[in-house]
Amino acid sequence: MRHAPKRTTIHEVLRIAMDLEKRTMALYTAFVSQHATEPELQKFWLTMARHEAGHFGALALVESMIQNDPKLEVRRKVWFDEVTVVRLRSLLGAYLREAQRPVTVERALEMAIDLESSELEDVVVDLMQVVKDTVWREQAMQFLIHDLGDLSYMVEKFTRDPKLLRRADDLLDRRVKALRSRKERRSEAAELDVR
Ligand SMILES: [Fe+2]
Ligand SMILES: [Fe+2]
Repeated sequence: MRHAPKRTTIHEVLRIAMDLEKRTMALYTAFVSQHATEPELQKFWLTMARHEAGHFGALALVESMIQNDPKLEVRRKVWFDEVTVVRLRSLLGAYLREAQRPVTVERALEMAIDLESSELEDVVVDLMQVVKDTVWREQAMQFLIHDLGDLSYMVEKFTRDPKLLRRADDLLDRRVKALRSRKERRSEAAELDVR
């Protein structure tokens, strides 16, 4: 089946993204109790879950800002590519079912890498362009970006899987590069504003 970008309301996109953040949080929370014997790991999962809660909160904040902005109605339509969402939703569904029983540390870390590698973050950050107020937008975006520095460390410490470690490092690399190019684009835009 071929997916094409479709037009959806901003409100609807925010709702979809919030649901995905909440379910990712639920998965990481399950790992908090499953890996309780390793305090360092348990703390890591708790931090991951808290990050997802933060992403959810940032989206809720954007939603209410848009609702209060007379220039930006929530029913305004934007182009939205559903492929990422469909893929992530089915992945999350399968992982949440799998995590109903205890999963190994390796498997849990692998799931986290799979989920964090999906491009939902990019989709959501792109969507933030609808927020015209720069200060607000910057703040929401900061909350939405997941700091994954500890993920590589945990993979290195708790698994001996070189493939998994490479994936974690690549993911981190991609994130750093994406952040850098976003910053560059922003300062270019700011320069254009000044001119
Ligand atoms: Fe997230
Ligand atoms: Fe995340």
